[in-house]
Amino acid sequence: MKIHEVIVTTIDINNNSHIAPMGINIRSNEVIIKPFKPSKTLDNLYSNSKAVINFIDDAKVFAGIITGEQRDWPLTMLSNSSLKRLTQANTHYLVEVQDIEDDEIRPVINCRILDKEIHREFLGFNRAQFSIIEASVLTSRLGRISIEKILEEIDYLKIGIEKTAGKNELEAWDWIQKKIRTFIESNNES
Ligand SMILES: Cc1cc2nc3c(=O)[nH]c(=O)nc-3n(C[C@H](O)[C@H](O)[C@H](O)COP(=O)(O)O)c2cc1C
Repeated sequence: MKIHEVIVTTIDINNNSHIAPMGINIRSNEVIIKPFKPSKTLDNLYSNSKAVINFIDDAKVFAGIITGEQRDWPLTMLSNSSLKRLTQANTHYLVEVQDIEDDEIRPVINCRILDKEIHREFLGFNRAQFSIIEASVLTSRLGRISIEKILEEIDYLKIGIEKTAGKNELEAWDWIQKKIRTFIESNNES
């Protein structure tokens, strides 16, 4: 099944928005979200069954959240829900949880699509944007997969950055490099 890399917006019991990159599956009128435990997104989906799936072409958003360099991004309230979408989203889906298949490691959350809205043209990814998304996934796995493998893949992804990066991708790439460096330094100390 095809996986789409998106930003999921949820709200907690105090109505605070949470945003997290996730790989989702889309099947006709359904979206499947699979958060690893523990996950704030999962907690929020248990307490409030709605979520917004943001399809976005600014790869810097993925890197900003994963590295912690910029967790907050402008949000816009939906007209038909108490949830918010990323202001810069190209497209958003409003979804509602239908059922949750619990699992020790990675529950499967089946959602029904309630609404779809297109806000901005999506013109495809260049190689640098692809590299940032891929490097963000690797960064989110620091400590879970070997640092040698991460560095090897980062080295390859650098080619896309060198060929096609704009200002946003260069900044996102710096955030990722910094996060990996900090991880290596803190591991060398302990
Ligand atoms: C492109 C991309 C896809 C990701 N997909 C998932 C996913 O499907 N499930 C998941 O648990 N984490 C995924 N992650 C990592 C989460 O975004 C990250 O661990 C985040 O902290 C989620 O936890 P939270 O809901 O507690 O914020 C992904 C990260 C990136 C960059």
